[in-house]
Amino acid sequence: MKTDGGSSAAKRRAGERAAEAVEDGFVVGLGTGSTAAHAIRAIGRAVDDGLDVRGIPTSFQSRQLALEAGIPLTELDAVDGVDLAIDGADQVVDDPESTAYGALIKGGGAAHAREKLVDTAADRFVVVADPSKLTDRLNRSVPLEVRPDAHTVTADRVQALGGEPTLRDAERKDGPVVTDNGNLVVDCAFDPIDDPDELATRLSRSPGVVEHGLFVGVADATYVGTDDGVEVRR
Ligand code: 5RP
Repeated sequence: MKTDGGSSAAKRRAGERAAEAVEDGFVVGLGTGSTAAHAIRAIGRAVDDGLDVRGIPTSFQSRQLALEAGIPLTELDAVDGVDLAIDGADQVVDDPESTAYGALIKGGGAAHAREKLVDTAADRFVVVADPSKLTDRLNRSVPLEVRPDAHTVTADRVQALGGEPTLRDAERKDGPVVTDNGNLVVDCAFDPIDDPDELATRLSRSPGVVEHGLFVGVADATYVGTDDGVEVRR
């Protein structure tokens, strides 16, 4: 596979191809991040051409983008189901021989709590990615959304699990990143993660963790944008 190192063009190809799977009448989960944004814009263009869809945003960012794109919006508790969710990822296990094949790390945009709600509610969840996201083993930090009053105890528990926690700071202002839900993000380096399913279970059990960014056994397909097209995994 030719790659272009995570270029915007590869992200655009993946996002736009995934948007082609949206059918008339669909309720669509709208992911967060620069790759999902390409899908949102493409769905918006299809709406302009008469496609009847309702979108469920996974973050403030994707809500704003969907509004700009003219996509009618709804909420998870106002629909009978979600037909399709399209979302990006920070890392995707791409080794078909691995028991973790298709497992994801998400939350680079601090939106993984709502992303997990919407993506897992969908009949079909399609990940959109560029080749830089593919890996044999997950080795990026796992974002944890934590209650503000729980970030220190959570950090202690993560260390007990063998991880190295870092409170995520906002880039352009003093202080920590605050999620759409008013919580903080602790990024936890495990490097590498041999058994994502087991780690996901342990993190879910940890009090104070609102949600973690491991998505195991959730994705139905991954659309990988390349230099000259899109490769579909699974
Ligand atoms: C946000 C996410 C994003 O989907 C992930 O960070 C990928 O972003 P991008 O498409 O910009 O590389 O999980 O919480």
